[in-house]
Amino acid sequence: MKKAVSILLVIIFALSLVSASAEGAGKTLVVYYSATGNTEAVAGYIAAATGADTFVLEPVQPYTDEDLDWTNDNSRVCVEHENPDQRAVELVASTVENWADYDTVFIGYPIWWGNASWVLDGFIATNDFTGKTVIPFCTSSSSGLGESGKLLAEAAGTGEWLEGARFQSSVDEADVTAWVEGLGL
Ligand SMILES: Cc1cc2nc3c(=O)[nH]c(=O)nc-3n(C[C@H](O)[C@H](O)[C@H](O)COP(=O)(O)O)c2cc1C
Repeated sequence: MKKAVSILLVIIFALSLVSASAEGAGKTLVVYYSATGNTEAVAGYIAAATGADTFVLEPVQPYTDEDLDWTNDNSRVCVEHENPDQRAVELVASTVENWADYDTVFIGYPIWWGNASWVLDGFIATNDFTGKTVIPFCTSSSSGLGESGKLLAEAAGTGEWLEGARFQSSVDEADVTAWVEGLGL
């Protein structure tokens, strides 16, 4: 009888541990900005691989093809690039519902002039990343991740930021999934 009670207690204890760890397992969020769809595709692959929610950063005044023409000195991106004080891009939303529930946040962006698109800046400045693992990812034609993730981490000032990864603009889903699995989250 004593033995049966002991076994029962062990089972109850084990079950309580399982349920506590399930409660403690936070959710994953993929936040991204994408001007022409490449980073959006990668964000979708990451969300599919992790079961994450997604949150898209959307400028109130979206960038048109003309705005994005980096070969024209007078285009919006060129003017903003040359004049950092004109880069404050107002977002439709820069706070996420139930932000506290997420303990892993992927942050995606296109590389603009070797760095993260400044469209992210308002989101980074507005949110507190304390207690979150943050994983930057980006797409570009040829540039690497460079200092982009590090600079975002510095701007955020909170959170545990991992190195992150850069993907070719038209990367295959399999390559993104392999990277996500390699993170061992
Ligand atoms: C304004 C602008 C600047 C860019 N600067 C770079 C760059 O410095 N290096 C690079 O490899 N690609 C650069 N690109 C290409 C983009 O990083 C690439 O096309 C990216 O995949 C776009 O992602 P998106 O479709 O999510 O906006 C630039 C594109 C734009 C519009």
